[in-house]
Amino acid sequence: MAEFKINDEDFAPLAGKVVVITGCSSGIGLATTELLLAHGALVVGGDLNPSPVETSSFSFLKTDTTSWPNLLALFDHAKQLHGRIDHVFSNAGISGRANYLSENFDVNGELQEPSTLTFDIDLRGMINTSYLGLYHFRHQEPQGGGIVCTASASSFQQFRVCDYTTAKHGVLGWMRGIVPNIETAGLPIRVNAISPSWTKTGLVPQSVVDMFPDVTWQGPDAAARSVAILMADESKQGQLIYSVGGRFMEIEQSSLLPVAAEIVGEANEDKMILRMMQMSSEIGNR
Ligand SMILES: NC(=O)c1ccc[n+]([C@@H]2O[C@H](COP(=O)([O-])OP(=O)(O)OC[C@H]3O[C@@H](n4cnc5c(N)ncnc54)[C@H](O)[C@@H]3O)[C@@H](O)[C@H]2O)c1
Repeated sequence: MAEFKINDEDFAPLAGKVVVITGCSSGIGLATTELLLAHGALVVGGDLNPSPVETSSFSFLKTDTTSWPNLLALFDHAKQLHGRIDHVFSNAGISGRANYLSENFDVNGELQEPSTLTFDIDLRGMINTSYLGLYHFRHQEPQGGGIVCTASASSFQQFRVCDYTTAKHGVLGWMRGIVPNIETAGLPIRVNAISPSWTKTGLVPQSVVDMFPDVTWQGPDAAARSVAILMADESKQGQLIYSVGGRFMEIEQSSLLPVAAEIVGEANEDKMILRMMQMSSEIGNR
């Protein structure tokens, strides 16, 4: 697991690029918006709450990422404003809302369904945002673009905020599922993700930060740099950048996937799906 540095010069390719960002008004989304704007990008941001950013290179549309019509409107707004979309940062998220070891009952005494809000925002909203990116990248001329999804350090370890961990494992799972499809289809589209460790944002109240001075907190600007490098560096595909205390490591291709590959060996499940796809296209071509 090699640590690497991210330099400001690395962001030069972002000048003039059109970037759609969800969850742009606070924390990592806001820091990314400011970083990209500082390097000459044109940002179209969506969030439930207004953005503090005011500059002609930034346009805001109130967006709830759990609403498909809202997401359609956000992407249409970006397209109408700039004619194309180069990058999407699928980032809006909340912390956990469900506790599976407690019970709530309705007025009839029936056990209530646990909250699904974290799945709706952190996973369904993330996928729908990314899906719209894929759609626009495939249907613009020239084709292409890059998606960065916000996963988490909880995407690859035990973390007892159960619904959040489930959703964030889903973010990593979505990247693992879509990348081979994009590559087989030969599309000029990249999908990567970030997995920040503890980061001082609206998600983690200052009171929690103050309670744990021993934790290696990082600012949202650190996570923003991991987003920007994944957008700027065209060689990056299917990568997961872990950031902790302002240090950066790529962990998916250098660590997690090689370990999994060693475990499964020849029993690689995806090879069989690929063979089935090839067989059905051969049959279709007859
Ligand atoms: N802070 C951390 O330690 C940490 C670590 C790993 C991952 N993350 C992830 O980073 C992402 C950004 O969170 P943050 O830490 O910057 O927190 P934050 O609360 O500062 O920012 C989240 C933003 O998302 C917006 N948002 C929430 N629900 C929305 C919805 N349905 N539609 C549109 N916007 C919505 C909020 O209004 C807010 O502006 C999240 O996906 C979070 O899970 C955070």
